[in-house]
Amino acid sequence: MQHHDGTVALVTGGGTGIGEACVTELAGRGARVVVADLDGAQAERVAAAVRAGGGSAVGVRADVTVEADCAAMVDAALEAYGRLDVAVNNAGIGGRRGPVGDLSLADWRATLAVNLDGAFLSMREQLRAMVPQGAGAIVNIGSIQSSVALPDTAAYTASKHGLLGLTRSAAIDYAPAGIRVNCVGPGVIATPSLLAKVTPQQHAELERLHPSGRLGEPAEIARLVAFLGSPQASNITGAYYVADGGFTAQ
Ligand SMILES: NC(=O)c1ccc[n+]([C@@H]2O[C@H](COP(=O)([O-])OP(=O)(O)OC[C@H]3O[C@@H](n4cnc5c(N)ncnc54)[C@H](O)[C@@H]3O)[C@@H](O)[C@H]2O)c1
Repeated sequence: MQHHDGTVALVTGGGTGIGEACVTELAGRGARVVVADLDGAQAERVAAAVRAGGGSAVGVRADVTVEADCAAMVDAALEAYGRLDVAVNNAGIGGRRGPVGDLSLADWRATLAVNLDGAFLSMREQLRAMVPQGAGAIVNIGSIQSSVALPDTAAYTASKHGLLGLTRSAAIDYAPAGIRVNCVGPGVIATPSLLAKVTPQQHAELERLHPSGRLGEPAEIARLVAFLGSPQASNITGAYYVADGGFTAQ
């Protein structure tokens, strides 16, 4: 078990799914957490659950596509806890499905705006807090689609490949400043929102795509995130780790 005692963490898109699991995992290991989400009520629900369990967390409504919101969520960490040690850039959307030829420019931009611009804006603000500290760890939630494509997801695949490139660039630029930046690639994960929208038949098809024969659990991603954010990963930066039940090994 890697501990985060006393560290301060920020999780974007922390109001449900993988983000919520990251909040729970980090708080369980002793981190104080800022839960940021487009849905402020969900962010507050997750923060309240941490507090009810004896931990410390604040919920913040923040849209990662809005520069001022990204600045405000980092300021919330600085105001509440005085520093920022770990940032998990998890907010993301599937966006409009389709091959390149079927996507409008608006569809394309809507997906890139959250998954790539949002991570850029979030990281810029997080680095503002971390650089003066001379330390920090950023974990970007990519996807298996940071390294492979799946049908009808051109914008999403491009956004997640871009996020891996952004991760690597930031990692080499900020390694001298003591800041590590890594990317995690989940396979298909059984989040509440995914489970609500797939039929039992689609669920079984998704399971068959994975050599493990099952979907991943949000907590399985959160444990990898917590490791990468911890001092146990002190020499790991610019790396991409999949947690995908063997999907990309095929
Ligand atoms: N679930 C999967 O199978 C899977 C697989 C690979 C990668 N991922 C990635 O993991 C991340 C989380 O996925 P999830 O399945 O938990 O998603 P989800 O849809 O269950 O939750 C996403 C959360 O992000 C928030 N959000 C959306 N747009 C936002 C914005 N502009 N600003 C701030 N918050 C915003 C939503 O309100 C929601 O609380 C995403 O980046 C996703 O691409 C998910």
